[in-house]
Amino acid sequence: MSNFRTFILTLIASFGLPWLCLIIIPAIKYQALTPVAYDKDKDGLDGYYPPAPINRQGQIIYAREGCVQCHTQMIRPPQLALDGWRKGWGQDQEARPAAPTRSNTLLDYLSEPYAFLGVQRIGPDLTNYGWRAPSRGALHLILYAPRSIHDWSTMPAFKSLYIERKAQGPVAEEALKLTGKSAPKAGYEVVPTAEAEALVDYLLSLKKDYPIPGATAAVAATPAKK
Ligand code: HEC
Repeated sequence: MSNFRTFILTLIASFGLPWLCLIIIPAIKYQALTPVAYDKDKDGLDGYYPPAPINRQGQIIYAREGCVQCHTQMIRPPQLALDGWRKGWGQDQEARPAAPTRSNTLLDYLSEPYAFLGVQRIGPDLTNYGWRAPSRGALHLILYAPRSIHDWSTMPAFKSLYIERKAQGPVAEEALKLTGKSAPKAGYEVVPTAEAEALVDYLLSLKKDYPIPGATAAVAATPAKK
C-alpha cells in the first residue's frame, strides 16, 4: 500500500510539477500582461510597447494554411553567449539599422490569441518579416508561386488564395505580375482573394523587435519610418 502511495505521489511530482511550472504559471503570467509605457526622457519614444498590433484577420489564414509547420516567429535568447548564428535575423532590410536583432519577449505576443512560435524552421523565421518584406505585389508572387522568385524553393504554392479569371478589358490593377512558367494563359489574369490580402496585411504587420521600455541599447534600433 505504501509503495502504491509513493508511486502515485512520484507520478504527480514528475508530471504535475513540470505542468505547473511550464504551462500553468507562464499562462497566468501571460494573461496578466499589459502594454508598458515608454518613458519619453529615457527611451526617447512616446506611447506604449508593443506599439503595433498584428493583423488578426490574416493571422487566422496563417493558422489555417499551416504556415507554422515551416515558419517560426521566435528569436531565442542567446545561449551561453553563442549568439552569432542569429545575427541579422530580419535585418536584411533597408529601413533598419545594422544593430543585431533582439530576442523575443512574452510581451511581443500580446493581444495574439495564440503565439505562433512555429513547429520547425524549414523556411526563414518571420518574426520581423514586416521590416524586410517586399512590396505587396511581390509578396503575392511569393505566396502564389514561390518558384517564380527562387526556382529552388520548397515552399508550397498557395494558389487556392487566388483566382484565375478571364481578363475583362485591360488587366486589373491588382492582378499578379507573373512571368514565365507561372504566368496564366493568354487572356487570363490572377487576382488575390480577400483572404490573400489579409494574409499579406498580417505578414507586413510582423515587427516584433520594437524597443523595450527601459532598455537603452534597444533605442538605437528605433524603427525607421517605412
Ligand atoms: C513546406 C514548408 C513551408 C510552408 C508550409 C510555408 N512555407 Fe514559406 N517558405 C518556405 C521555404 C523553404 C522558404 C524559403 C525559400 C523561398 O524563399 O522560397 C519560404 C519562404 C517564405 C517567405 C519569404 C521569406 C523571406 O525571408 O524572404 C515568406 C514571406 C513565406 N515563406 C510565407 C509563408 C506563408 C504566409 C505560408 C503559409 C500560407 C508559408 N510560407 C508556408 C517553406 C514553407
